[in-house]
Amino acid sequence: MNTVRVGLMMALALIASTFSASAQADETPKIKIVNAAHLIDVEKGTVLDNMSVWIENDKITKVVSQNAKIAAPEGAEVVDLGPDSYLMPGLMDSHVHLVGSPIWGYDAYQHSTARQLVYGVANAKITLEAGFTTVRNVGAPGFTDVALRDAINAGDVPGPRMLVSGPSLGITGGHCDNNMLPFEYGEESEGVADGPWEVRQKVRRNMKYGVDVIKFCGTGGVFSKGTRVGAQQYTLEEMKAIVDEAHMAGRKVAVHAHGTEGIKSAILAGADSIEHVSYLDDEGIKLAKKHGTWFSMDIYNDDFILQEGAKHGMTEESLAKERAVGLRQRQSFQKAVKAGVKLSYGTDAGVYPHGGNGKQMVKMVEWGMTPMQAVITATRETSKLFGIEDRVGIVKEGHLADMIAIKGNPLEDLTLFEKVGFVMKEGKVYKNTLQ
Ligand code: ARG
Repeated sequence: MNTVRVGLMMALALIASTFSASAQADETPKIKIVNAAHLIDVEKGTVLDNMSVWIENDKITKVVSQNAKIAAPEGAEVVDLGPDSYLMPGLMDSHVHLVGSPIWGYDAYQHSTARQLVYGVANAKITLEAGFTTVRNVGAPGFTDVALRDAINAGDVPGPRMLVSGPSLGITGGHCDNNMLPFEYGEESEGVADGPWEVRQKVRRNMKYGVDVIKFCGTGGVFSKGTRVGAQQYTLEEMKAIVDEAHMAGRKVAVHAHGTEGIKSAILAGADSIEHVSYLDDEGIKLAKKHGTWFSMDIYNDDFILQEGAKHGMTEESLAKERAVGLRQRQSFQKAVKAGVKLSYGTDAGVYPHGGNGKQMVKMVEWGMTPMQAVITATRETSKLFGIEDRVGIVKEGHLADMIAIKGNPLEDLTLFEKVGFVMKEGKVYKNTLQ
């Protein structure tokens, strides 16, 4: 293959990897009309009754009251979601691991990277059908997340729109390295890099292979062997180098950070979002507000880990760390809500089974949000962190038709977010149990 051809193919691959690659070539636009008893307006924070949403190909063209009695054009497909239906924008999750093993600890070694990707294909479908139409996958081996995103965009397999990070960057022996095996096995995770120039090289390498976002580990964690959850990893100098390199190329940076100092250093380094944010202090809140940093806090997780973790191979070391961190993280969340820090909806699905992404809604209200605030967080707010708020996150003319519906009022019963009955992504219906 000559270089011109290779160049052309790479350019095509790049185009295919951008979002809505599913442009339809139909001559006549296909009009769909979705009728719902209620529509949650996440821009105004209100609920509208008896609404119709018109869709042409992948976009919303009209949001109108059914009382306006606008006649459906000939050939339009009408979807009536029925009485008691609540329509809203597709949900978003800023922290998932679609690719990966469902088993933890040493048992996870049974699963090759290829096997983990096959799990990822199944998890993508499950996640979409649970009502999550956009997710950010933060950490995957071998650029399997890039492959999954591209397969979804090409229409080969169903799944949410994905923003992907590739391998997470981390210090030698840190949370994003792998410390499970003794020295003689020579295991080191792909994203390990130490020092400002090494980390810059890793950021460049990740971008070379197609990532949308950069993830690094800024403190220890629950599921790594031998790391202290509260201890900072990477110096401020290294963090700044990562952020600088990523921002120069227009990529956002997500930082795993539980510990107080790691959280604050990552904010000072200019990171776009901090993940977990467990040991948050008042100064951390102030800094986040000053720098406009997002927090992505997985506050459902603790329930699953403590109740089910041992059955899924989670080690005693991890369970002990979780016992120390879980409640503290929820208290930090409550403080962040009160202080008005920017919050996205991030669950760390993969730690617990995919498809349960909606379970965190209940927790967020238990820990200080109003139900409407939780819905806005899981839609419009998270789209802002993703930088795609001009295309998704609101049911609005000109936006991509990513919508879900639930039977019953989810603002009154938040567990209904675990029972999404209708899912549309870019104008295509992937699930409808409401009709
Ligand atoms: N991936 C995270 C870690 O290993 C999961 C933390 C889960 N616990 C929690 N309370 N959110 O550190």
